[in-house]
Amino acid sequence: MIKVITYGTYDFLHYGHTRLLERAKALGDYLIVGVTADDFDKNRGKINVHQSLMERIEAVRSTGLADEIIIEEYEGQKIDDIKRYGIDIFTVGSDWVGKFDYLNEYCKVVYLERTEGISSTEIRAQSGALKIGLVGDSVAITKFERESHFVNGVKIAGFYSETQEEDRDSHTPPDRQHPGTFYQSFLAPLDAVYIASHPSRHYAQIREALLNGKHVLCELPVSLWREECQELFRIARERNCILMAALKTAYATAYSRLLLLVKSGRIGRLVSVDATCTSLRKVDIANQKEYFKTWNSICSWGPSALLPVFQLLGTDFSSKRIVSNVMDDTKQFDLFTRIDFRYPHAVASIKVGKGIKSEGELIISGTEGYIYVPAPWWKTDYFELRYENPAENKRYFYQLEGEGIRYEIVSFVQAIEKKKCFPYIEEKITEAISGIMEDFYSGTDVEYI
Ligand code: CTP
Repeated sequence: MIKVITYGTYDFLHYGHTRLLERAKALGDYLIVGVTADDFDKNRGKINVHQSLMERIEAVRSTGLADEIIIEEYEGQKIDDIKRYGIDIFTVGSDWVGKFDYLNEYCKVVYLERTEGISSTEIRAQSGALKIGLVGDSVAITKFERESHFVNGVKIAGFYSETQEEDRDSHTPPDRQHPGTFYQSFLAPLDAVYIASHPSRHYAQIREALLNGKHVLCELPVSLWREECQELFRIARERNCILMAALKTAYATAYSRLLLLVKSGRIGRLVSVDATCTSLRKVDIANQKEYFKTWNSICSWGPSALLPVFQLLGTDFSSKRIVSNVMDDTKQFDLFTRIDFRYPHAVASIKVGKGIKSEGELIISGTEGYIYVPAPWWKTDYFELRYENPAENKRYFYQLEGEGIRYEIVSFVQAIEKKKCFPYIEEKITEAISGIMEDFYSGTDVEYI
């Protein structure tokens, strides 16, 4: 019996795929089809696959051409499969000519002519590019623009700068509730907006976008007040729009694997989460206009540091204490802030600063061991699981492409296409983060030093 194997992603299974599978089958008596796993595709930079692994497997199965379907999960697996299944012929389309010649050592390699004029990429593009407008002046905007090129089906269709807005308004900051007519004309041709403006502007900008039927991806904090945040989610539901919280760390593979390890009990019962995020930047507090645009510690770093606390311990803490070192009379600009949380059976602390420098590490402690993520943990691709007996320690590394931003964009685009959000950051966490911002600005549970 001649055994044949072939591999592919098979996103939106098309005529080109079936023709290839038919000819592959005809090369022998038994055809094994390897379908690539999502993580494997991610690792090789193919991040815009739209269908899930199960959908793609089902599509291959429905052709009736595969005698067996396997999943391709790691680099080098083809050699293992060829040996394990006793393969005689390895085959793929001619777009790969030469690339798999190294497999000749293990079996015969056949490149089949690729069908002209059709590909998954084209099918994905046909659904029309999603027109996204970018709001804000922060570096996040530049990064988002750069990363959007890695995701097909996305077009950056406009920029909205707050600086221009202020100039037009003769140097007065715009009304918190109404972002103005210029913003409305910016929104008109768009399908969606990515907002990374000063957090004090988020509420008005998100609200206006949603009321005009635009989907929104917004950097945390979504709002500085809990009720406003709830209202925005309510409007999004009423208008059938996606409102998704953005924070790149949440989309990093290493970070999500770390959460799963803790939740599956690998460090025993969770006892404490300690997160530190700091960076230094010169702040001209005397210049009111500059000050207005400057991000304080709690807005810049609070959401990142709060994320693992709320994702691991939940948002129902029994008490909290905020200690802040503020620079101005309005108590709005904090050089650094520390927050201690008490939960019924655990504690957590965050330390955030734009005016201090500290080790940006994340430590998650349990009754049997702990997880250590070295600085800068919010751009994490590596962490360690550590035990009393160092011989049991484990190290984990996951490739992080584009700081996680491109995975965030993919997730937003897919939520819009599927008309359903499977958020990496849950609504109640987004709300709780707004709640902490509200307490900071209203001075609730805050001590000043
Ligand atoms: N294939 C083919 N003819 C096409 C498209 C794909 O023969 N028009 C073959 C590929 O050479 C490969 C297999 O089908 O052996 C699976 O390819 P896959 O990468 O899943 O499909 P593409 O349409 O090429 O996907 P993409 O556009 O995302 O690269």
